Amino acid sequence: MYTGLTHFHSYWAYLAFLLLLVAIINSLLGLTGRKEFKPKDRKIAVFALAAVHIQALIGLVLYVLSPYLRLMAGDPSAAMGVASTRLLALEHPLINIIAVILITVGFSRHKKLAASPAKFKSIAIFYLIGLVLIISRIPWQNWL
Ligand code: HEM
Ligand code: HEM
Repeated sequence: MYTGLTHFHSYWAYLAFLLLLVAIINSLLGLTGRKEFKPKDRKIAVFALAAVHIQALIGLVLYVLSPYLRLMAGDPSAAMGVASTRLLALEHPLINIIAVILITVGFSRHKKLAASPAKFKSIAIFYLIGLVLIISRIPWQNWL
């Protein structure tokens, strides 16, 4: 089960990245091209949001099953001393949860805003910050 979930989390990450990028580029094009925000644009933002929510949900389950949670509960100072362990025990989960919350805030804000440029801007900015945060804490040595 753990291995299966790791594979899912590993491959789903490609989809999440791709959909986030598409949503960011689409919003930037909408903003710079002064386009009207259409149902198609909302759909693109929802797909990226859902992909990221699924990724985070699987990540949470993985974390609970992983040795990292037990490590943090048992001897956190030992876990903090090794960069690769600190990354998966603390930095990757914490920063990614913050990133997912920011992406969700960007989506929620766009629903409340009325003007098309403001909607595009909310998605572009929050999704971009989220993507940068996620990229900053990927365990690259395990992935790719
Ligand atoms: C939402 C954006 C996220 C992305 C794009 C992402 C991506 C990744 C990637 C690429 C790996 C390496 C997989 C491999 O070894 O091939 C990984 C590992 C891992 N992630 Fe995430 N992750 C995200 C969120 C989370 C969250 C929120 C948690 C936990 C709360 C989490 C927990 C883990 C754990 C425990 C591993 C290590 C699995 C292992 O090698 O045993 N992830 N993640
Ligand atoms: C830990 C589990 C999850 C939490 C805490 C969570 C939280 C949220 C929140 C707060 C929103 C509201 C955004 C807004 O409309 O203002 C939202 C929207 C959404 N979530 Fe999740 N979510 C989770 C898991 C999932 C999963 C597993 C999926 C996959 C199907 C998903 C798909 C979506 C979609 C499609 C929306 C947009 C709904 C809309 O069209 O307004 N979420 N989520």
